[in-house]
Amino acid sequence: MRIILLGPPGAGKGTQAAGIVDKYKIPHISTGDIFRKNIKEGTDLGKKAKEYMDQGLLVPDELTVGLVTDRITQDDCKNGFMLDGFPRNVSQAQHLDTFLKETNIALDKVVNIEVDKEILVGRAVGRRICKSCGATYHVEFNSPKEDGICDVCQGELYQRADDNEETVSKRIQVYLDETKPLVDYYSSQGIIANINGQQSIEKVFEDIVNALGCEK
Ligand code: AP5
Ligand code: ZN
Repeated sequence: MRIILLGPPGAGKGTQAAGIVDKYKIPHISTGDIFRKNIKEGTDLGKKAKEYMDQGLLVPDELTVGLVTDRITQDDCKNGFMLDGFPRNVSQAQHLDTFLKETNIALDKVVNIEVDKEILVGRAVGRRICKSCGATYHVEFNSPKEDGICDVCQGELYQRADDNEETVSKRIQVYLDETKPLVDYYSSQGIIANINGQQSIEKVFEDIVNALGCEK
């Protein structure tokens, strides 16, 4: 199964990704996670990416596209993969299409999680993430049993640097200007599944699985 997860910041992509990769046994490739790992490790890529991420802007395509196409060619992606947060603009989508054509790979589905703009800021600002295992929580909608502590591994929870109100608003604007056109782009390829992301986490997951079918 080869899937793209599309949706605005805070739509629930990361939350749903965890269940999808588990069910379909495919690697989760999140460009945001890759950049954050590089920032943490202080690599050159991390330093460059941070300048853009802190402002809520897209990291330039020349730092992003090769990273993903290299990752897709690794052995663990032979039977499928899930891209989360890539592509992010039409140019990235065109580069990906060219690469997939060259390597004789076809996408199965683009899962587009739809959530109204008014709800997104609260989702992102209230998000907390486990430092150790990466599990995602929300102070209100999906809170851990113990305040600030991960249910899964007892790790400490933290807030992402770009989850403040100002940067989230910028990220939403960038989504509307640059990423939303991909909904039409993939609709015209006939592979998009629009999912109502304003339901419970469990119901959103159920709808995604129904859209994907049980094929692996
Ligand atoms: P990235 O890491 O991709 O972040 P994003 O797209 O902004 O998405 P988020 O991680 O904020 O949201 P999500 O949809 O995963 O929501 P989540 O499941 O956590 O990108 C960050 C930055 O990296 C970008 O700004 C850019 O600079 C750079 N970047 C990344 N990829 C790039 C690319 N391809 N090109 C260029 N630059 C790139 O959920 C949010 C919260 O809501 C959580 O607290 C969760 O518990 C809660 N929640 C989830 N679902 C529900 C529900 N159904 N009901 C109630 N609460 C819910
Ligand atoms: Zn944890």
